[in-house]
Amino acid sequence: MGGISHQVYLLDRDEAETKRLNNQHRFLVDLSNLIHPSIPTDLTAVADIGTGTGVWLEDVAKVLPNKSVHLHGFDISSDQFPRGHQIQRPGQKPIPLSVHDALHPFPAEHRGRYDLVHIRLLTAGLKQADYIRVLANARTLLKPNGWIQWEEVDHTAFCTDATSELAAVTRLRECVIEAMLKLGLWPFAPQRVYDEISANGFADVKWVAGVMRALVPPSMVAIGQAEDTTQARGIVDGLVREFEAHCESETALVNFGVTVGRRVD
Ligand SMILES: C[S@@+](CC[C@H](N)C(=O)[O-])C[C@H]1O[C@@H](n2cnc3c(N)ncnc32)[C@H](O)[C@@H]1O
Repeated sequence: MGGISHQVYLLDRDEAETKRLNNQHRFLVDLSNLIHPSIPTDLTAVADIGTGTGVWLEDVAKVLPNKSVHLHGFDISSDQFPRGHQIQRPGQKPIPLSVHDALHPFPAEHRGRYDLVHIRLLTAGLKQADYIRVLANARTLLKPNGWIQWEEVDHTAFCTDATSELAAVTRLRECVIEAMLKLGLWPFAPQRVYDEISANGFADVKWVAGVMRALVPPSMVAIGQAEDTTQARGIVDGLVREFEAHCESETALVNFGVTVGRRVD
């Protein structure tokens, strides 16, 4: 389709990454909210864009009071979907997942159908100009007065609270920023799509280290710091071990922004 940039995605979609996404989901939900408290819970239809493994929807189904709520997940790739492109639920209708690129308009049957659209962590696959496009397409899914909740990480804010920064931390951060900029991705929090921002600092070495293990090897290959992912993984293992040892005395910090907005016509 004219004007839509070629898809770049900086992460893998293999079994290890599926496990990491599910663990990351649990970590984020422990620290933040599944659904922001400003959004009413009497929802009748909820969509998740860039759903990945569908883990957010699976948890939403468990907490919403309306057990017949309509849920639907969309992703540009089905590689991390459960078998049959459905999330099975005992005694309930399965949750359907569809392949759809959020840079393209959603099919007519989904437009105006949802009272909450959720987006989380598309940063490894969206170019700077794509954010506004995804937001516009997401908006079409909403009923009037429907809610959007978009959660993103700011890759430029990754650090620890040490007064003097460990070289491994600088390298891990700069490698991702350089690769994202080189590939046309956008490492900063996408503030222009936010109507309201609530940014929080998080401290959990496991999550941050997990993100670095997944993101830095392809970044290193992209910017020529390693010949292939195997070599890059070896270098990153060393850097992450240094970082983890460092975090026994220092706290890892990362900015995670949750933006909530309501559709007005
Ligand atoms: C880091 S994962 C996050 C998955 C999920 N939102 C979560 O928080 O667990 C990013 C997901 O966005 C998907 N994605 C990237 N670009 C996309 C696009 N243009 N349209 C739809 N999904 C996209 C990827 O395929 C991947 O599954």
